[in-house]
Formats: sequence, C-alpha cells, structure tokens
Amino acid sequence: MRILAIESSCDETAAAVVENGTTVLSNVINTQIELHKEFGGVVPEVASRKHIENISDVIDKALSDCNMTLDDVDAIAVTYGPGLVGALLVGVSAAKGLSFVAKKPLVPVHHIKGHICANYIENPDFKPPFICLVASGGHSHIVHVKDYNTYEVLAKTSDDAAGEAFDKVSRVLGLGYPGGPAIQECAKSGNPHAIRFPRVNMGESGFDFSFSGVKTAVINYIHNAEQKGIEINKPDVAASFQEAVTDVLSGHLAECAIKYGTKKIALAGGVAANKPLRERCQALAAENDMEFVCPSMLLCTDNAAMIGCAAYFEYQAGARADMSLNAIANLPL
Ligand code: KG4
Ligand code: ZN
Repeated sequence: MRILAIESSCDETAAAVVENGTTVLSNVINTQIELHKEFGGVVPEVASRKHIENISDVIDKALSDCNMTLDDVDAIAVTYGPGLVGALLVGVSAAKGLSFVAKKPLVPVHHIKGHICANYIENPDFKPPFICLVASGGHSHIVHVKDYNTYEVLAKTSDDAAGEAFDKVSRVLGLGYPGGPAIQECAKSGNPHAIRFPRVNMGESGFDFSFSGVKTAVINYIHNAEQKGIEINKPDVAASFQEAVTDVLSGHLAECAIKYGTKKIALAGGVAANKPLRERCQALAAENDMEFVCPSMLLCTDNAAMIGCAAYFEYQAGARADMSLNAIANLPL
C-alpha cells in the first residue's frame, strides 16, 4: 500500500510517498528556517503564506522523485493537528483537494503519532509496546505506546516544551534560531557542570516536566552577570543548560520505563536530534538492560515520511476523513 503523506504543521512544508508503512520511496522537506531566523522564531502568518507558495511543488517532487503520479498511490494522508492552525490548514486543504480529485481515501494523522512512528522506519524489528519520549518545539510527552494504535500519555510538560526552552535560551544567548542545534554546537566547548541549573519534577507521579524554571534560571543568570558587568562564558551556560534538560528528559524516560516494566524505550521529535540526549538515553538503556531506538536526525525533525508511516497504521485501523476534515491546533493525543 502506497500513501502520499503531507505535513505542514509548523515551518516545514513536506510530502513523502511511503510503501507499507516503513519503506520511504520519497521524502521532500522544504524548510522555512532561513525565513524565520530574522524574527528569532516561527511567525505563524509568514509560515502559512510560505506553505501556500511551496506545497504544490513539494507534493509534485515527492511523486516525481519516485516516478509516480497520483494514480499510483492508494491513499492521501495529512497532519491535521496539533500545530499552527493556519499552517495546518494549507496541508489539510491540499490533501482534501487531491483526495477529492483522485478519488483516493483521506487519512487524518496526529502529528505526535507521526513523530513516534518515525522509529519504525529505520528499525523494522522494533515493535510496540514501548515507552517513548516525544520532545519537540511544541510538546514534551512521555507516551506508553501499547500497540500501533493505542497511546497513553504518562507525563507531559506543565509549561514550556523542551524545544521551546532550547529556542528561548538560544535567543537570550544570541545564538539564533532554531535554538537546539545552536546550543548543541556552542555547548561542545563548554563545561556541562559549570553552573547547576534547576531540575524540576512535577505532578503526582513526579514524571511531568517543567522547563520554564530552567529557562528563567538561565535568563536570570545572564542578566545578573550583565548587571555586574561580568562577561558570561556562553559555552559553559549552553552546556550546563543542555545538561539540566538532558538529565530531566532522560531520567524521567528511564524511570517511567522501570515503573511500567517495559524493556524498550524510544525517542522522537526535534529535540531527539540532540546528540548528548541520544547518548544519555542509550547509556541509561544499556545500564537497565533495555532496547533503545531513535530516528536518524532527518526523521527526528518535522517530515512527511513519519506521517506516511503513522497513516499506514491508522488506515489499517479504519481511520478515514471526508471533506469536512478541519485543522485542530490543540488536537489531544
Ligand atoms: O519536531 P520539530 O521539528 O517541530 C515541532 O513539532 O515542534 O521540533 C523542533 C524543535 C525546535 O525547538 C528545535 O530547537 C529543536 O526541535 N531541536 C533540537 C535539536 N534540533 C532541533 N533541540 C535540541 N538539540 C537539537 N540538536
Ligand atoms: Zn514536530
């Protein structure tokens, strides 16, 4: 079964053709990062307009890259939430149009399920049940993936998402957007133990996250130094912040896996591209005799191949949408 998948929830216009859930025949990503850089973050209205300009070419390229036309695909899949509503609407409208014209079923996909399913693409033997940390610009969840279509959220953030904290700290340090890769690069020459930023456990279980505290602690640290005329060591600040976030994300993931008695853990979402986080989770998995997987860098950040993979399992479970499909900015998991 071949699915043409479309993703436009944030600042990447993406389309892919995926066969039987895990064979990626094409994967086209048009990123708007350069456009949003000058604003220090994604400007929703600008993102929507750029998606409109890009989407037809991106879809055409996804089909032509694997020498296909619409006739060769069996279904059209699209991310319908969560995300920026104007951005989502562009993908949803395009998918509805294609589904109507080509008379192919329309499969609605949850963006976070897509991120989680990215793990199946390169690890064909990796199967549910497992526990997955999803950390992106908009979400920080620990999810119990019970089977291909059953997800239970075990923990989430009570304020900022992890990626959001990376982006804000990066802006304050003058490292630019997106913050994750910039902080990771700057931190390479820093000491992760130079400054002890707070690690916060929230909620009844203690597994929920809060990243606004660590973000504010970094901002206060920088402002205090500025007021005293002390020059900060940016690599030390970046490395210490990254260390605090890595400690919390990896620690909660491993503790959750132990509590729920699962021997398989995974990462997903843009922050999963973070090298120290990947290495720490790998080490924790080894210590606890667990299997660990994470997508390659390209499949961690937003892409449509992951949407095509998730759509395959949704389709098998009977998920179909009609022309009333709408974008839902805060779609729950
Ligand atoms: O999944 P994603 O592409 O979009 C959303 O669904 O939000 O995630 C984007 C987020 C941004 O906040 C970005 O700073 C972060 O992922 N990110 C990283 C890294 N690469 C991207 N965070 C930490 N380390 C990285 N290497
Ligand atoms: Zn995402």
